Formats: sequence, structure tokens, C-alpha cells
Amino acid sequence: MGGLPKKAQQLENLRKKKNGVLALDSGALLFKEEKIQPDQIQQLTATAQGIVSAYNRMSFAAVGVARQDLAAGLPFLLSLQHKSDFPWLSANLVNRTHGKPYFKPHTLLSMAGVNIGVIGLTGQGPESLLPEKDNAVILPWEDVLPKEISQLKGRVDLLILLSNLPSSTNKKIAETHPEIHLILQGGSTSGNLVPERINNTLITQVEQQGKSIGILEVRWNKQTKKWEDAGAENLLLEKKNELDRLGWQIGRYLKTGDPKLVFKDKPDVLAAYESMARQHERLNQEIARLTVEQNTRNANRTQFSSYSHHFETMRKELPDNPAVRAIVDATTTEVNRIGKAAVKARISDSSGKNQEGISENYAGSNACTSCHAPQFAKWRGTQHATAYDTLEAKGQQFNVQCLPCHVTGPAAQTGQEMLALAHDLRQVGCESCHGPCRAHILQPTDAKAERPTMATCQRCHSGDHDDRFNFFEALSRLRCRSD
Ligand code: HEC
Ligand code: HEC
Ligand code: HEC
Ligand code: HEC
Repeated sequence: MGGLPKKAQQLENLRKKKNGVLALDSGALLFKEEKIQPDQIQQLTATAQGIVSAYNRMSFAAVGVARQDLAAGLPFLLSLQHKSDFPWLSANLVNRTHGKPYFKPHTLLSMAGVNIGVIGLTGQGPESLLPEKDNAVILPWEDVLPKEISQLKGRVDLLILLSNLPSSTNKKIAETHPEIHLILQGGSTSGNLVPERINNTLITQVEQQGKSIGILEVRWNKQTKKWEDAGAENLLLEKKNELDRLGWQIGRYLKTGDPKLVFKDKPDVLAAYESMARQHERLNQEIARLTVEQNTRNANRTQFSSYSHHFETMRKELPDNPAVRAIVDATTTEVNRIGKAAVKARISDSSGKNQEGISENYAGSNACTSCHAPQFAKWRGTQHATAYDTLEAKGQQFNVQCLPCHVTGPAAQTGQEMLALAHDLRQVGCESCHGPCRAHILQPTDAKAERPTMATCQRCHSGDHDDRFNFFEALSRLRCRSD
């Protein structure tokens, strides 16, 4: 949720500049994964509630229900709906018995005189997320979408779909349902996607976890409800550039005199020139035709709807919105408090013995000093050696969402294990990169330490937390080798 204060400020600035700003999110807002460890649920749901408060503050108009949003269970999301000022939308997450949707299937909005319908669809996925007792099922889109469209078609000027289905399915929806004008896809895809048009449907997406916001500026014609053809203008421009290039080349030939005379003894050069001249003639005709088409389009321009788009990355330098900053800070403080309480409870439970250190294959970085003093000294000088301290300074050392990358140990630890880690395994230690080394310490030549690869680093230096990571450059800054 770290980027939310910046996102909020960008949105506020936009609303100051423009009328009719509509904030929509296709979903996958609350959790990164579809499943979460039971002992992490309390911290993750506290974070989810903070995200909803921030979205309330940002006046979101609607959010789609993605599979990830159900990770803490359907009852949790239903309880969050009561705390959300915006509707969560899903037309296909329904009660198994009577087929009624658990959330609003669509919502109606009005913005700058345009009536807008927004429908939500949840992704189906290979396996069911929903336990038997929820009595819920995610239906195929074909079962619900046509009905939603026919209900809304006559009532709205602009129809938007928040889809958590795979992009190939969204393309199919666009092909078969031109009544939908815009699909905002999410949940099962990654990265920013420049709007792509299929028939009369625009499909676009913004990368996950709020790292960017996508701004789509739409001038909508309620009468025709048709996007204009942007591609044709590019084609005309392309042809004109080609004509320019050819004209310049032909000009160079003509400078030396009439090619028919100058090159009369060089038939291949003459042939090349003549082919160029014919191409020039053809281009001239095509441009004339495209220009006529363009002029007709210009005359009818007002009939069509147009859009422009850009993505804004939430860079570090961007200002925070103070109100949302306060929400995020209160949330992370609460999340850390929950983790701290869990540690305390565990210590009093285990009656004083074996309070820390469950990772018996790990030795801790201090155990390497005796035999690898130079590597140890070097490591001490890197930020890896203080990665846990960094969390402590932020008051986040008990947050299970932060620990995996700021301590030493296997990637898939439970919340309990991470919170009870031995003191010497805090920080990103030697064994984060070289694997567990307890055996190696006892028999250095027989049990070899692992040699890290790029994938080792990317476990932590990945998209969300370090999208500018360059393995070779990074390696050069913290070589263990003495040469
Ligand atoms: C008792 C001495 C000793 C201790 C303690 C020790 N090592 Fe080693 N380490 C060695 C020796 C000896 C070699 C060389 C082994 C060989 O070349 O067969 C070695 C090699 C390595 C290598 C190179 C592996 C390779 O394949 O080239 C790494 C990495 C390594 N150790 C990491 C560690 C880490 C991390 C620790 C602490 C958790 C550690 N070692 C503790 C003695 C030790
Ligand atoms: C267990 C997670 C983890 C792994 C594995 C990991 N890093 Fe890091 N790395 C971090 C964290 C966290 C920080 C920032 C620590 C801080 O600032 O407190 C960091 C910081 C860095 C920095 C800046 C350090 C400095 O002192 O300038 C570099 C460079 C780096 N890592 C490279 C790598 C490379 C290369 C690998 C793989 C060989 C790697 N890291 C593996 C978590 C990891
Ligand atoms: C997926 C791994 C990962 C997770 C999870 C993670 N971090 Fe980090 N963190 C890193 C890496 C890698 C770096 C170093 C890269 C860099 O400096 O850009 C880093 C650097 C940092 C830094 C120092 C640089 C900065 O941006 O100010 C802070 C503070 C930090 N992390 C806090 C957190 C907090 C708080 C959480 C939990 C909410 C968290 N991290 C979760 C991998 C992670
Ligand atoms: C961020 C990942 C990372 C951490 C943390 C790390 N190493 Fe390494 N280590 C590497 C890489 C990568 C290599 C491969 C050689 C190189 O390019 O430096 C390496 C190589 C080594 C080698 C073999 C050196 C040689 O000359 O071939 C030893 C020994 C070693 N590390 C020990 C340690 C010890 C001890 C620690 C902790 C004090 C440690 N490493 C921490 C990434 C790491």
C-alpha cells in the first residue's frame, strides 16, 4: 500500500484540472495471492481494511472483485463491502442455490452529462477458491454477461466492463459484444497495456499493486457511441514520410541531369531510377485518396468519440496526499502491533524454552566469520547487513508482508517462523544468497555452499520492490570475491 498516498495526490491534482474524473479499479486490490497462510491473515486483513479506507478517501466509483480479493474468504469481503463507500462489482460470483450475485453486478453513474454503466466480472481460475460452506460459485461469463448488457444497453451512453478474466477472454468478449465500449482488465495479467481496440471496444490495463495510474481521457459522443479510427491518420502520415524520402532520392538523380541521358550506358541504374519514379507516382495517388478520406472524417469528426491515454508511475519524488498518508501510517502501525502481539503470545506460550530459531539448517552469518573473514567484512558494509534494521527504523519489523525480503531464510515461511527468527538470521545474511550452511560449516569441502544465480537475487529484487534491478551491475557492487 506504499504507493497509495502518491496515487491519491495525483488523483486530487487531476480532479482540480478536469471535470468528470471517474476513478475505477478492476480489482486484485487487497491481496497479492489467491491463498494466504492462516497465521498471516490478521495482518493481511488489517492491511486490506487500510486500503479500503484509502480508496474511500480517493472517492473511487467502483472496484471489481478479483480472485485475489477473496483470499481472506468471501465473508471477509462481504464485511468490507459495508465499510466501502464504493460498490464492489461482480456479476458472476453468485449463490450456488438461488444464483443471486453476492455483490452488485453493475452500477450506474453519471459523469459530465454521460450516463455510464459499469459491470464487474470475476476470473474463474483452475480451482475453486470458495469453500463448500460459502455456498458460492463463480459462473462462466457467458452465463451472465448477455443479460447484464441487455439490461443496461438502453439506459446508458457508455458501457464499461471491469474484467478479471484473462486477456484472451476479454478479446473474445470485445469481438462478440460491441455494446461494451471499454474493458479495464486486471487480476490475471501484469504490466501497463496501451489501449487496444477491437471493433468498438477499447481494452486497457494498469499494472498491479498501484505502481502506476492509468489516465484515459475520453470525449464521448452519446449519439453515435463510436470510437474514431485513429489508425488511418497514422497511415496517411507514414505515406507522406515515404513520399518525402523518395522525392529526396529522386531529386539527387535529377541534379546530375536527365537520367535517361546521364545513365543511358548504365541500364541497371536507370531501371532503379524508373522504378523509384513509378513508386513516387503510386504514392501520390494513394495519398490523394487517403486525404479525401481524411477530409470526410474531419467533417464528421464530432460524430465520433476519441480518447488519449497515459500512464503515470508512482515515482519516489511525487508528493504524498497527507490524508491518505495518515491512513497508510495508521494501518502499518496497526499491522506491526498485531505481529508484535503474536510474538509476545508465542514467547509466553512456550514457557521460556526454544523461543527463537526454527530454521535448524541455517547457521547465521556470524558462523562464517572464522573461515571467511574478508567476505564477512565486505558483507557488513552492504545494506544487506542492515536490511532488518531498516524495517525496525520504519516500525515494520513485525509485518509479515515485509519480512520475507528483509531477513535470512527460505522464501516460503509462515508468519510464525518469520516472527520467531533467531537473532542472527535477521538482516539479509550470507545464507540468503548461499542457502542454508549448517552442514557446510561442519564439513566445508563435502557439503558445499550454494552459488547464487540471478534468480536468487530476484526473489527479493523483483518488480514490486526493485523494478530497476540490474543483476550484473548490482553484483559488481557487492562482490564476495576478493579479486
Ligand atoms: C570451518 C570453516 C568454514 C566455515 C565456518 C564456513 N566455510 Fe564456507 N568454505 C570453507 C572452505 C574450506 C571452502 C572451500 C571448499 C572447497 O573449495 O571445496 C568454503 C567455500 C565456501 C563457498 C564457496 C563455494 C563454492 O562452491 O565455491 C561459499 C559460498 C561459502 N563457503 C559460504 C559459507 C558461508 C555462507 C558460511 C557461513 C554460514 C561458511 N561458508 C562457513 C570453510 C568454511
Ligand atoms: C532475501 C532478500 C534479498 C536477496 C536474496 C538479495 N537481496 Fe539485495 N537487497 C535486499 C534488501 C532488502 C535490500 C535493501 C536493504 C536496506 O536498504 O535496508 C537490498 C539491497 C541491495 C543492494 C544495494 C546494497 C548496497 O549496499 O548498495 C544491492 C546492490 C543488492 N541488494 C544486490 C543484490 C544481489 C546482486 C543479489 C543476489 C546475488 C541480492 N541483492 C540478493 C534483499 C535481498
Ligand atoms: C519482495 C521483497 C520485498 C518485500 C516484501 C519488501 N521489501 Fe523492502 N526492499 C526490498 C529490496 C530488494 C530493497 C532494495 C531495493 C531498493 O533499494 O530499491 C528494499 C528496500 C527497502 C527500504 C529502503 C529503500 C527505500 O525504498 O526507502 C525500505 C525502507 C523498505 N524496503 C521497507 C519495506 C517495508 C516497510 C516492507 C513491507 C511493507 C518491505 N520493504 C517489503 C525488497 C522487499
Ligand atoms: C547478496 C548475495 C550474497 C550475500 C548476502 C553473500 N554472498 Fe557470498 N557470494 C555471492 C555471489 C554472487 C558470489 C559469487 C562470486 C562473486 O561474483 O562474488 C559469492 C561468492 C562467495 C564466496 C566464494 C568466493 C570466491 O572467491 O569464489 C564465498 C566464500 C562467499 N561468497 C561467502 C559469503 C559469506 C561468508 C557471506 C556473509 C558474510 C556472503 N558470502 C554473503 C553473493 C552473496
